[in-house]
Amino acid sequence: MANFTFQLSRDARPISVEGYRRAARRRLPEMVWAYVDGGADGLVTMTANCSAFDRWRLRQRCLTAITTPKLGRVVAGTALEMPVALAPTGITAMSHWSGDVAVARAAERLGTRSVLSTGSSYTLEEVAGRCRQNHWFQLYPFGDKAKVGDLMKRAERQGYSALFVTVDVPVRGNRERERETGMAVPVVLTPRGMLDAARHPRWWWAWLRHKRVAAIHYIEASASGPSAGVESVRAQERYMQGDLSWDDLRWMRDHWRGPLYVKGVLDPDDAARAVDEIGADGVVVSNHGGRQLDRTLATLEALPAIADRVGDRAEVLFDGGVRRGTDVLIALALGARGVFIGRPYLYGLAVRGEEGVADILSILKDDMARAMVLMGCPDVAALDRSWLFPAPGTGA
Ligand SMILES: Cc1cc2nc3c(=O)[nH]c(=O)nc-3n(C[C@H](O)[C@H](O)[C@H](O)COP(=O)(O)O)c2cc1C
Repeated sequence: MANFTFQLSRDARPISVEGYRRAARRRLPEMVWAYVDGGADGLVTMTANCSAFDRWRLRQRCLTAITTPKLGRVVAGTALEMPVALAPTGITAMSHWSGDVAVARAAERLGTRSVLSTGSSYTLEEVAGRCRQNHWFQLYPFGDKAKVGDLMKRAERQGYSALFVTVDVPVRGNRERERETGMAVPVVLTPRGMLDAARHPRWWWAWLRHKRVAAIHYIEASASGPSAGVESVRAQERYMQGDLSWDDLRWMRDHWRGPLYVKGVLDPDDAARAVDEIGADGVVVSNHGGRQLDRTLATLEALPAIADRVGDRAEVLFDGGVRRGTDVLIALALGARGVFIGRPYLYGLAVRGEEGVADILSILKDDMARAMVLMGCPDVAALDRSWLFPAPGTGA
């Protein structure tokens, strides 16, 4: 047997989320990279989402004879094989033409689920038709009740079993990098942008061939035209309405039979109101990956107070900055029932389509199992704050 192998391509399969991030950056045009990897204003909150995990250290118990820790968890009424699911992301096919279908199918392969965004590249029906399991649907609560009601009915008919209502986009965040690279409405073509396009022929070829870079639920009929992407963003802006209130959320609760979660909550008072007044089954502690209000709390900073306030009677879910299995364990120990990832799976999608998304989930799953063996923790259900120490000098 050979004692070594040759690896000639620098695009060989990455072994970490960061490795996939670097490979995705090479694959995607600058404009698309700005959309996928960017955030609001000075990126303070986006960066803090990741660094907040560094304020915690894990407890390590030895000689526990644990070899196969339990990672399964029931989240949103679905038994998952790992406590990590895929957050909704809009226009997923910008990362890879196979988009939301690939994302949902990869989630299923790892025994978990994805949340289809209102701003998806493939319709609710297309994704459901290519999957075996129930998935979940994310709804932007824009003012047009007829449109919202129609999307809810379609989701129910197609077997989406839980609804995630995103409440942190009353107006779009200021993503300067997107604007600088011409990712605007209409798209701005600069000489630099054209040079960049020439460097990414594979992406442009896929775009021309598959015509999937529009938020399809906003435009439907004209989705395949060359200007569909721009049209869909314009339509989304028309639908978006800043003066939405708790009454609108109540209307959605009244019209959706399954479990309902409010995504984008950072304040314990809002969490209590969503659960106790509106009857939400839970909340997702999220700041949209630092893409909306910059300088707001990192999600890990917001999590403990929300878990203390409603964790006894509602599901507290979490996203923002998770890049390692140990990040997942910290979030669970601070009171999350389950965790979502956003950008990490988009990196996987950009590099290797469905395989890449599945690989990202496998990396996190292996990370978690290995860390739990090393910690001497038998089951994710056993994780609580006794498994954490504040890192010295951080005031965590
Ligand atoms: C490119 C991109 C698009 C997103 N689109 C949506 C969306 O359509 N709806 C939504 O509720 N959240 C959206 N989000 C936010 C994610 O659901 C999630 O909250 C966030 O990505 C978590 O942070 P992480 O990327 O650090 O994991 C988007 C995030 C990214 C990166």
